[in-house]
Parts: sequence; C-alpha cells; structure tokens
Amino acid sequence: MEEKNKQAQHTTLGDNSLAKDAATRVLSLVSHKLKTPLSIINGYSEAILSTVKPKEMSNFNIKALEDINKQGEKLSVLVDKLIRFANISDLLPEDLEKKNVNVKKIFSEVSSKCILRDDSITVNSSDNTIRRKAPTIEIKCENDTTVHADGTLLAIAIEELVDNAIRFNNNASKKLRLFYYQDHEKDVLAVADNGVGIREEHITKIFHKFYQIDDFFTGQIEGWGLGLALVKRIMNLHGGNITVRSQYGVGTIISLVFPKINDKKLKSI
Ligand SMILES: Nc1ncnc2c1ncn2[C@@H]1O[C@H](COP(=O)(O)OP(=O)(O)O)[C@@H](O)[C@H]1O
Ligand SMILES: [Mg+2]
Repeated sequence: MEEKNKQAQHTTLGDNSLAKDAATRVLSLVSHKLKTPLSIINGYSEAILSTVKPKEMSNFNIKALEDINKQGEKLSVLVDKLIRFANISDLLPEDLEKKNVNVKKIFSEVSSKCILRDDSITVNSSDNTIRRKAPTIEIKCENDTTVHADGTLLAIAIEELVDNAIRFNNNASKKLRLFYYQDHEKDVLAVADNGVGIREEHITKIFHKFYQIDDFFTGQIEGWGLGLALVKRIMNLHGGNITVRSQYGVGTIISLVFPKINDKKLKSI
C-alpha cells in the first residue's frame, strides 16, 4: 500500500513536470507566432506616421495610429520577455556559462541601462522642465569583487530587480542601493529601494509566474508578473536562492544569494 502511494506520488510529480514543460512550450510557441503580426502592425503604423503630412489626415486618425503604434511596441516588448522567459525556463544547470563576473561592473552597466529606460523622467520640450528626477543609484562594492556566475543571466536577474525598484516606487526622490557582501562565505548581491514596499502576505507569491500585486498604493503598473519568477529560476540554476526583506510604504531589499562552495574557491584550494 505504502509502495503504491509512493508510486502515485511519483506519477503525480512526473505529470506535473510534464505539464510544466508543455505550458512553457505553448508559451514559447504562441509568443513566436505573435511576433510576425506584431511587426506588421508596428511597421505599417510607424511608416504611415512618418510619411503622412498633418493636413492629409484628421487629428483623430493620427491619434489612433499613434496609439496603435505605442501599444504594438509595448506588446512586442512583452512578447520578447515571454520568449526569454520560456528559453531560460528550458535551461539546465549544465547549460550555464559560468565565469568570474566583476560585480561592480555588472551593477553599473545594468544601472545605466535601467536609468536610460526609466520613462518617469520626461522633459517638457516647450519649457525644458524635467518632470521627475532620475533615480539615484548608489553602488557599494569593491572594484575587484567577483562572483562565479553566468554573466548574461546574472545581468538579466539584476536588471529585473533594478527595474522593479524603480517602477514600484512613488517616492519623489527614488533611491536605490546596489551592494555586495558575504554572509557565511556566501556571495550576496542585493538591490535596495525606498519604494512602495510589499505587504507580508504577498512576499512568497511575488515569485509565482504572472503574479502582480494590485492595490491602491502600487496602482496599475504595466508588466506581466514574470520578472521575479525569472530571477528565481536563474538563482535555482546557479544552486542559489533569493531573499526578500520589505516594509510596506518604506522600501524593499531583494538579495541574490550564491552557494557557499563555488568553483572559484575550489580552484584556489
Ligand atoms: N522592489 C519592489 N517594490 C515593491 N513591489 C515590488 C518590488 N519588486 C516586485 N514587486 C511586486 O512584485 C510583483 C511581481 O514582480 P515581477 O515578477 O517583477 O513582475 P512585474 O514587474 O512584471 O509586475 C510586482 O507586480 C510588484 O507588485
Ligand atoms: Mg518586474
């Protein structure tokens, strides 16, 4: 009987993982299928907008085309995100290209990229006033600190964290701190912000695929709720984990914790 139960449990686990693979495959397939129609929508709307003279088209039509183009571009970004998510979900630990990655360098490269993309900084062309201050990002890490990781995946993980720290932040002066420390010989890379914070009941759920907190404080912020699920997957692939400390209304610290014994240390033995 016990044997039978064990078998049943095993089968269920197997079925689940098969279902998970199938879901990821469907996700990837649908995303790829969406790419062509989206590039046609974006391409034509952009081409018409750039060639048409204002008098040839009504204001309504121009506005409609601008909206189609804007939403189409947003959808393209989301579809690329989905494809990337599906691709990374399919990876195995042995697929990683690990090397010693300079932490300070990766922190600053990712920060510059995220700051440039931050659309809360808009310049009013008529009087050249800037609507919102750019986030301040402080990086605390020695110049020569390295972590043994897949550089591309690590950059993606940090980017998702920095992006969240900027977006889920209503503070008039957004402050981020990217820092490195060692905890029981484990390498830890952390991103701290003075943003909206996360209520305790959401903390475990934010790592679920497609989970987004929707309350009056964060408001409706665009996204698909895939970022942290992706970061968790990346850390699992590295044999590490991710931790969250947050105070609602005050800020959040999310840390990437790498395993204690890594190849870097083994080599030096
Ligand atoms: N630094 C943060 N501060 C406050 N809330 C956050 C932060 N990071 C993530 N969250 C919450 O967790 C949810 C899931 O994040 P994520 O998986 O990156 O999805 P997305 O960014 O697409 O919404 C977000 O919708 C947000 O509510
Ligand atoms: Mg995100």
